Amino acid sequence: MFESYDKKIEDLKEHFHFRSIKNFEKKEGKYIYVGGKKLLNLSSNNYLNFADCEEITEEFFEYAGGKYTFGSASARLLTGTLPVYKELENLICKLYDSEGTLLFNSGYHANVGINSSLADSGDVIFSDKLNHASIIDGMQLSKGKFIRYKHNDMENLETLLKRERANFKNAIIVSESVFSMDGDIADIKKLVELKKKYDCILVLDEAHAFGVFGVKGLGVCESIGIIKEVDLIVGTFGKAIGSMGAFVTGKKVLIDYLINKARSFIFSTALPPINIAFTKWIIENKLPNTYEKRMQMLALGKKMSSESHIVPFIVGENDKTVELSEILFQNGYFTLPIRPPTVPVGTSRLRLSLTADITEEDLAKLREILY
Ligand SMILES: Cc1ncc(COP(=O)(O)O)c(C=O)c1O
Repeated sequence: MFESYDKKIEDLKEHFHFRSIKNFEKKEGKYIYVGGKKLLNLSSNNYLNFADCEEITEEFFEYAGGKYTFGSASARLLTGTLPVYKELENLICKLYDSEGTLLFNSGYHANVGINSSLADSGDVIFSDKLNHASIIDGMQLSKGKFIRYKHNDMENLETLLKRERANFKNAIIVSESVFSMDGDIADIKKLVELKKKYDCILVLDEAHAFGVFGVKGLGVCESIGIIKEVDLIVGTFGKAIGSMGAFVTGKKVLIDYLINKARSFIFSTALPPINIAFTKWIIENKLPNTYEKRMQMLALGKKMSSESHIVPFIVGENDKTVELSEILFQNGYFTLPIRPPTVPVGTSRLRLSLTADITEEDLAKLREILY
């Protein structure tokens, strides 16, 4: 039996799909240390450098003292809800002026929980073809049907809505706002128009936009003034916020439904209180001072022809992508090759993710090599 797994692994290696965990020696601001080499880290979601900043960690522990522990010991619905969890949920409600918020242990948990539970049998989910794996996994667990529309193609979505909507009871449209592997942005105004026209629930995953876009850092919906029109907004704390966990915020009836039906929420031990306190502390004390550097980061992304701070460099074949990543490594840049199944076959790429301290000068050599 084990030989069949050996064979599968050999196949992965042969096609440059094999993944292994790298051990890094150290992370220091925008740099990462691998094999004794100091490299500019272009593969991090730590967009505002909150995650591995020693001063921030020290400042937080000074504030937190011994108030918060490292274990919640229980799921939220059992004994896992201390005041700090509700305080963070209330803070998110206040920021978005929304009816309800629910914390999840990660963005993965949130998307699996939402997409598996909102669509019951007789319901349907319309999902962007390039939506994150966590959304796909959620839909696959759902009792409803799911239909994928061409990436960011609103005409295709409308064609499908026209053809299919009447065959189902509830309908959900789900999209990322900033797409994680392409860095482009969904046409959210059109999504809102279509969800109203075809009586659907709109769920937007702002994982890569929360803490980056908008004056308050609430995401693309804030920056285009459309928060109120979206039924559920998902945000993650593991990226720009430099912490861990996620939230979904929006209509109270949907939040109450998720508390009762989202299995990834119900059947998992809550995040540690110290982690929830850190997230809340960062959002209240650090995020408000980042507007300028967030805008600089987005401007640099724009200069590299992206709509966001995520800049894809599409190579095509797996082997060539791995080779290019190696060349950049030798020149002081850490970029990971992104291959199927993370991205569609034939679109293997380097995903350059900018963080707030990276300057144009830092990228001069990389631009020479790539462009
Ligand atoms: C669009 C999107 N949603 C959700 C997630 C999952 O978030 P988390 O890492 O908090 O599980 C990711 C992670 O990369 C993502 O890119």
